[in-house]
Amino acid sequence: MKTYSTATALRAAISAARRAGKTVAFVPTMGNLHEGHIELVRRARREADVVVVSIFINPLQFSASEDLSTYPRTLSADKEKLFAEGVQFLFQPPVEEIYPEGMDSHSKVSVPAISEKHCGASRPGHFTGVATIVNKLFNIVQPDVAVFGEKDFQQLSVIRKMARDLCMPINIIGVATARAEDGLALSSRNGYLSEEQRQIAPVLHRILQETREAIACDYDSYSVLEAHAEQVLRDAGFEPDYFNICDARSLGEVSPDTEEVVILAAAKLGSTRLIDNVTLTMNPSADWGMLAAN
Ligand code: PAF
Repeated sequence: MKTYSTATALRAAISAARRAGKTVAFVPTMGNLHEGHIELVRRARREADVVVVSIFINPLQFSASEDLSTYPRTLSADKEKLFAEGVQFLFQPPVEEIYPEGMDSHSKVSVPAISEKHCGASRPGHFTGVATIVNKLFNIVQPDVAVFGEKDFQQLSVIRKMARDLCMPINIIGVATARAEDGLALSSRNGYLSEEQRQIAPVLHRILQETREAIACDYDSYSVLEAHAEQVLRDAGFEPDYFNICDARSLGEVSPDTEEVVILAAAKLGSTRLIDNVTLTMNPSADWGMLAAN
């Protein structure tokens, strides 16, 4: 595995691979790699000849009050994992390579509407930070395929919309959320949880599943389900941010035309913010929704 810290050097290596007729898959990450990331890399390997992974903790997507300085940095362990998975190119740029003139005057990519709700409402500017860095990385790598986790469902929706709106010839692939045995979605932030919080954390996935089952059994008072789920989370010791039943395409309200529902949730356990989601395919030909695996 070759590691590059400049866009110029990475581009030269990718161009050589392209000239040799290779296809390219890309997995952008912020490091602290866990089994969920490895699933993305494995999918990327199945999709193309050459896999490029980036590790860049993007300051533009963190607000002043967020955990940028304490975000876990585990570079040598990450490199070993990527090497073991057969990744050919690692892009690991310093902040000055990406934002040479700082972030304030840097051009930004904003994806309106879809970025403003759910996580976007409690983290203003977050998705502009994500869209900007992903756009920039896409321009550097120019992959055929890019792979993202479905755990960050809204992020994936924002990136898909950006790619569609800006005519990017990249196949954006979402990979199902990797989970611990008790259902907790794998996340770099799980490492912040105390032992006691780690025992409580799977309640988030459990209440998402219970809500999905209620909808599948035709319970359609969504605001009641949302309020109930938030109370369950509060009783377990969480501080819920949102628990929203939405149309999976628009991330807006469910309508009679909705084909797939996504239930998006974010809640804090102590100072750790966890997010998760489940999806449900609606079956218009029956009186009930059909459960979809997630
Ligand atoms: O999901 C992440 O790790 C980040 O948001 C991403 C997509 C690498 C952009 O910094």
